[in-house]
Formats: sequence, structure tokens, C-alpha cells
Amino acid sequence: MTQEQSQGLAELRAELDRIDDQILELIDRRLAASADIAARKDAEDDRHLKVRPKRQSQILDRLKARAKRAAPGLVEHVWREIMGYGLQAQARTELVLAPTDQPELLEARVKAYFGSAVPIRWAASTAHAIRSAMVGEAIAIIPEPLLESEGQLRMFDILHATDGRPVAYAVGRVAAEDIALEASAPVEKKPAEPREWSPASWRDRPAEQIVDYPDPDALARVERRLSGSESLVDIADIIHLRASLARVANGDAVMVQGGDCAESFAEFNADKVRVTYNLLLRMGALLRAASGGEVVHLARIAGQFAKPRSSSNETIGDVTLPSYRGDAVNGPAFTVAARTPDPKRLLDAHRQAKVTIELLQAYASASYADLPQVYREVGLSELPRPVAMFTSHEALLLNYEQALARYDDASEQWWATSGHMLWIGDRTRQLDGAHVEFARGVSNPVGLKCGPSLKTDDFLRLIDRLDPDNTAGRLVLIGRFGASNIAEHLPELMRATRREGRKAIWSVDPMHGNTRTVEGLKTRMVGDIVAEVRTFFEIAAAEGVHPGGVHLEMTGSDVTECIGGSVKLAREDLGRRYLTHCDPRLNEGQALDVAQAVAELLAQRAANRANAA
Ligand code: PEP
Ligand code: CO
Repeated sequence: MTQEQSQGLAELRAELDRIDDQILELIDRRLAASADIAARKDAEDDRHLKVRPKRQSQILDRLKARAKRAAPGLVEHVWREIMGYGLQAQARTELVLAPTDQPELLEARVKAYFGSAVPIRWAASTAHAIRSAMVGEAIAIIPEPLLESEGQLRMFDILHATDGRPVAYAVGRVAAEDIALEASAPVEKKPAEPREWSPASWRDRPAEQIVDYPDPDALARVERRLSGSESLVDIADIIHLRASLARVANGDAVMVQGGDCAESFAEFNADKVRVTYNLLLRMGALLRAASGGEVVHLARIAGQFAKPRSSSNETIGDVTLPSYRGDAVNGPAFTVAARTPDPKRLLDAHRQAKVTIELLQAYASASYADLPQVYREVGLSELPRPVAMFTSHEALLLNYEQALARYDDASEQWWATSGHMLWIGDRTRQLDGAHVEFARGVSNPVGLKCGPSLKTDDFLRLIDRLDPDNTAGRLVLIGRFGASNIAEHLPELMRATRREGRKAIWSVDPMHGNTRTVEGLKTRMVGDIVAEVRTFFEIAAAEGVHPGGVHLEMTGSDVTECIGGSVKLAREDLGRRYLTHCDPRLNEGQALDVAQAVAELLAQRAANRANAA
């Protein structure tokens, strides 16, 4: 970094510090003003609670409409917190919750509404909760609407799940003119319809990692062409994958997912597809021999052409250009021409994906001939059926995904036909964001990358939104914390899914939390990767969760991008064949090392279970 750049950065950081000071000052002033109001209210009225639901919802509506950059979810979250603290400062106001079979969900909703400062107490029954609200400085949260007010006690708002379903009703001593519900609005007793979804509904949501195309008309033309194209994958095959993943969810199978970090146009050839196919097959054979159960094979291929970037620009010397975002967006060369996003690249990506899928189908039958050999190598004697190779990629480019979404009359559902499985990246998993919105409406299996910044509340809301019916085979949670972080984060999340009876699969991506820079090159240590996988298995065993699979960045070719493994690559070797355009991949030997480690963990697990039985 030049001196000028680091000076520029230091100034920007100083600006952030000044903004934080101002925010704090304003919060202090707001709390003081609300304390003054409370003192006056006290003098006038001691029959009612200090909470004013109607005013709160007016404030939120007004701010959401004013916000330029802040998403509605952010406004909601920050102001609910501030108002929650304000309320507690005016008068300690307790929330008394009636029993429910989803206590965590209810607590999450209550905290989202009243802020995390609120004291929560569980009542023995709905009647107890209502009684507390009648006599104390308390709000009752009850499972059924209170149809008639009793004395000062009124139902003043409905708490909703993230999909719009009402989950509980808030009742307290609130003045009639203060209740948030429209007086005339009929009380919905049955679950409300979830908000409408269409393949385009993501466009109304804030989107991270959005590509700035200089020519929107050219983009629209490309979208129209893609919309008119045939599906890349068959819906029947997607349904097949869902059924296979349902067996993973039930603990009867495991999944192995892997391939390039980013596919490249320049390096594409039939042999590369074959090598990836065979590598996944051999890894799967190792897992199958160890677990004795079915293995579901998923390649990161035929659509993995776009990358989220932590910085939208790259500066070399005194030139700043848009970052490279994958071949479907722009080119890797550091020139204006290459780095300018070009929508025609979406058509090239689509064409390459189509050829890749055809090749995979051809190899599936050709490799069937090799299968006995692959299986004999690992000591399996039975002759398996041809192995299905499913495709997967990150659903990052929503213009592309929307154009390839298809309605299927037979299932009466929407499907993404760009690949069998899509996943949502760790940088684009905002609950109210565009990527989650798109994914919730298609019926494919969907993956959700879960990194260290994911909070349990948001995590549960995301699961609710993406898999509202809790269907085995729909959702794959892909932990990617890093070897040194996984033990801090994963147990709580796994506990939450188990407690809520969630059927989502847990798998581990031991790549993206273990990237480091050695002598200017991004790399990963096989030791860290194996360590994260091992910890994943340990935590899964401790939490009583099925370790559903692994997700790797790898290539069948002989690259030198990761350090370690039985091939003993050292840091000095990195420069030799460092070919990736994005993240460092395991080479063939290293990928098999990791698969071997997973196989041993699966074998150990099978042995432990047999002993316990
Ligand atoms: C990826 O899988 O290539 C990726 C970018 O992962 P994550 O979203 O988990 O960082
Ligand atoms: Co990557």
C-alpha cells in the first residue's frame, strides 16, 4: 500500500470514529428525552404501561421510508433495540410468556420486538400470563388473540414469524388510542399467507454484491435470451437430489461436495470435467467404504462462475479498477476492458454450463465402466449402479438465476434450473436481502453458508424463511468457521437446530475459514482443513447431530495452492503451479487426503454407534 493510500484509509477510519461518537451522543439525547416524557406521563397516568406500540410502529414506518442505504431490517432492529432500552429505563417492564412448543422461536420474536434489554419470564399458563399483565408492570405474550379487552388490559399487537405467520399476541395495560392494531382490523385466527414470491421479487430487496452493469439494456437483452432458453438441468433430477438429501438429513447417507472456487472460461476443457468427476467419485468411494451408507455426489460446477468480493475495487499502483468477480461477470486481467462487467458473459457461462452438464452425463455412463476399479481400490465388492453427479453453485447473480427459474405444472412449484442445488454465500445471507428472497421461492435443495458472524437468532429466522415446512432434503447448513473458530460458534447453532427439531443437514466447508496469506499468496493448510473437519465431527457427536458431509474447493489437476498433505507441499512450492483465479484449491492428492480423514471419522462414528447399540 502506498503512503497516500494508507493516509486515505486512516482518514476514512477517523471519519467512522467521529460518526460513532455522534451516534452515541444522539442515543444519549434520545434516552434523556424519553426519560423526561416518562416523568410527565407518570404524573398524568399511572394506570397504563409506558410502552406505546402505535407510536413505535409509526416511528419505524417513517424511518424505513426515509432510509437511503439502511435496509428496513436494519432500521427495525436498531430502533427496536433503542426503544426497548428506553422503555426499560422508564419503568422496568417485564414480559411474561405463556407456554409454547417453540420457546426459542417465541423468545427470538419477543426480543426482536421489545429489544434484547427486556426481562423475560415464563408463566405456567396463559391465564397466569394474563394475570401478571393485569396486576403488574408486565406485558403478557399469549398464543391466541385476546378478543375482548378486560379493564385496562388490551391486545395491542401481533408478533409475526419471519414468513408473516402470527406467532403470538401481546397483551398489556395500554390505552385504546395507543394500540398498534387497527381497531377495525379483524383478528386473523389462521396463519396468514406468506408474503408473495415471484422469480423477480428479489428486486425489491436490498442486495449485497450487486454487479454494476454499465449498459442495463444489454443486460435486459441477455436476460430475455436466457429466459427463452431450455432448462439446464431436469426438474426430475432436482427432485431426485432432494430425495437423496432427505436420506442424508435422516442420518442414512452423507454428501460430498467439491470443485473449483471459481470456474474459468479459459481453462475449460472436457478433460478437466472428467478429472473432477473422477476425483469426486473416488472421494465418494472412500466415504462409502467407511460409512457403509449411500454417498451423494455434488460438484461445484456448471454455474460456479461468480465470486463475492470483500472489496468492489482493486488498486494496483495508482490504478483502481473494479474487482474481478468471476468469469460470468468480468475478466481477471487488470485492464479497464476486462474488468468492466459485460452481461454477454452470462451467455458464455450458460453455454459452458450446458456443455459441462452434457459431459457429466456422458462420464456418468463412461465412468460406470471404471467404477468396479475405483470401488475395488477401497475394498468395496458390490457393483454399484451408475453414480449420479449433481451440479451446484452459489446463487449470486440473481439476474441469471431469475432468467433460468421455471414453473413446473406437474409439481406446481418454481425451480431454479441453472443447477441442481444452489447455495447462499456467507456475504449475501441477509434475512431480508435479495439472495434469501430468491432462494426461498425455488424448490431446489438450498445451501446456507454459516460463518462466525451468524447470530443464533438470525440463523433460526433464516432457517424459518428458507425451509418453513421443515422438509428433509431442502436445506443444507454449511458451517465455515475456520479451525480455530468452529468450537466457539458451531455448538450453539447445532444445539438450536436440534432443539427446534430442524431437519436441515449440517455439513462443513473447512476451506473458507482457513484462508491465510503466505508470501503474498492466499493459501490454506491441509492441517487446518482436517482439524476443522475433525472438530466438526466431535461437535456433531456431542450435540447428537448427523455430520452430513463436506464441502471442498479442489481440482483434479496438480496445482500447488494449499500447503501440506501426503504430497508434502511446502510454502516454497506455492509459486510452482499456483493457477487459481480466486481461492486456493486442494490438488488431487490433498483432496483424497481430506476424504481419507473424513472416511476415518465416519468409520469411527459407525463403530461408536455399533458399540452403543
Ligand atoms: C465459496 O464457497 O466460494 C465462498 C465464497 O464461500 P463463503 O460464502 O462461505 O465465503
Ligand atoms: Co472460494
